[in-house]
Amino acid sequence: MSVRVIIGSQWGDEGKGKIVDHLSENVQHVVRYQGGANAGHTIKFDGKTYVLHLIPSGIFHPNTSCIIGNGVVIDPEKLLEEIKMVASKGAHPERQLKVSAAAHIILPYHKQMDQAREKSVGDAAIGTTGRGIGPAYIHKTARTGLRVMDLTEPETLKKKLVYLLEEINIQLKYLYKLPEIALNPLLDQLNLWGEQLKPYICDTSDLLHKAYEQNESILLEGAQGALLDLDHGTYPFVTSSSPTSGGACTGTGLPPTAISKVMGISKAYCTRVGNGPFPTELHGADGDKIRQIGREFGATTGRPRRCGWLDLVALKYAIRINGINELVITKLDVLNTMKQVKVCTGYELDGTFTDVFPKSIAQLDRLKPIYQGFKGWECDISHCKKRADLPEEAQALLTFIEHETGVSIKIISTGPDRSESITDANFTA
Ligand code: IMP
Repeated sequence: MSVRVIIGSQWGDEGKGKIVDHLSENVQHVVRYQGGANAGHTIKFDGKTYVLHLIPSGIFHPNTSCIIGNGVVIDPEKLLEEIKMVASKGAHPERQLKVSAAAHIILPYHKQMDQAREKSVGDAAIGTTGRGIGPAYIHKTARTGLRVMDLTEPETLKKKLVYLLEEINIQLKYLYKLPEIALNPLLDQLNLWGEQLKPYICDTSDLLHKAYEQNESILLEGAQGALLDLDHGTYPFVTSSSPTSGGACTGTGLPPTAISKVMGISKAYCTRVGNGPFPTELHGADGDKIRQIGREFGATTGRPRRCGWLDLVALKYAIRINGINELVITKLDVLNTMKQVKVCTGYELDGTFTDVFPKSIAQLDRLKPIYQGFKGWECDISHCKKRADLPEEAQALLTFIEHETGVSIKIISTGPDRSESITDANFTA
């Protein structure tokens, strides 16, 4: 049995939800370990599409347990809405879902602060999802956050909130010019959420240790992507958590030695939503075509995603910082009508060649991608059930990616539906 981490190896939106759903049928536990309702994991089956923001993408497999780990920041209102939604679609959250007592919660003021800050900083805006992620992690790090366990301890909660609101209200009033928050209505709301969430709350790290000791299979579902990682991404245009494989340990309590497989998910091209550097971004017709065909609009915010060619320098960087030893290429079908497909193999930076992904935003903005061109296959690939069924031009592209990265491709996604995937014959979930 194995512990596998699923990592977005670009800037998020790689199609992790579909792959986690695909693998979950044969997995006992699926665990979210970081981020919050900024994520939008899309699953499509039986002609219907579901978007999950907090609940792990295994929830539609009735025998799979779904765990929200301590590293996630939980918006109780959104979680309760999502619990209702999945229950109405046939899932069994009362039996399948567990929520870490140690996870931090997103309070209404976190969302207000996130949105107000984005509005007030002009060009320095990150283009956040406005879901309160940054402020919630700020308070976690400052040790002034509230945790899920606090929702079930009304006396402790009241004491903490009285103290916290003194500081929060100063910030809201003077920094953001927003109305102050009154204690009692917020307290009532939090107590109500606590009552509603109580059946799901437990020590998920203990639960996972026991599952691991009993050799049960565990899938750790990353949200966002490696290039949005707080430490390793395109800082400051990043999210406030660690989507990389290291974050899977701190966000669940499982040790690094438990993880045997790290699966990196990459689109056959690149997208980014929000601000920040994107070396292979396409500003013309090809970018618009990818956006339209790939339906590249944010699953959480509906924002149009920026689109560009696959960047192998960035992918190799993601492979190194995560220890990715299995690759998945998604949305290959989106390139079906392209006459030529390009892949970035290096950069020119100030007149010199480099194959290192720079850490400086100024350098990232200055570099020019160097491309290798591939003849497009210009046909539908939805009927392909094996890699050998794919047109030879598509196979050449996949072989090139494997050769350049040194990592073999285990799954190729050829359409949005659960059934539209080509899985390597030797792959085991
Ligand atoms: P935040 O996580 O809402 O603070 O946003 C920080 C940056 O991460 C912004 O550029 C967002 O667009 C981006 N981001 C956050 N979550 C996702 C996601 O699930 N997919 C893609 N981009 C995301």
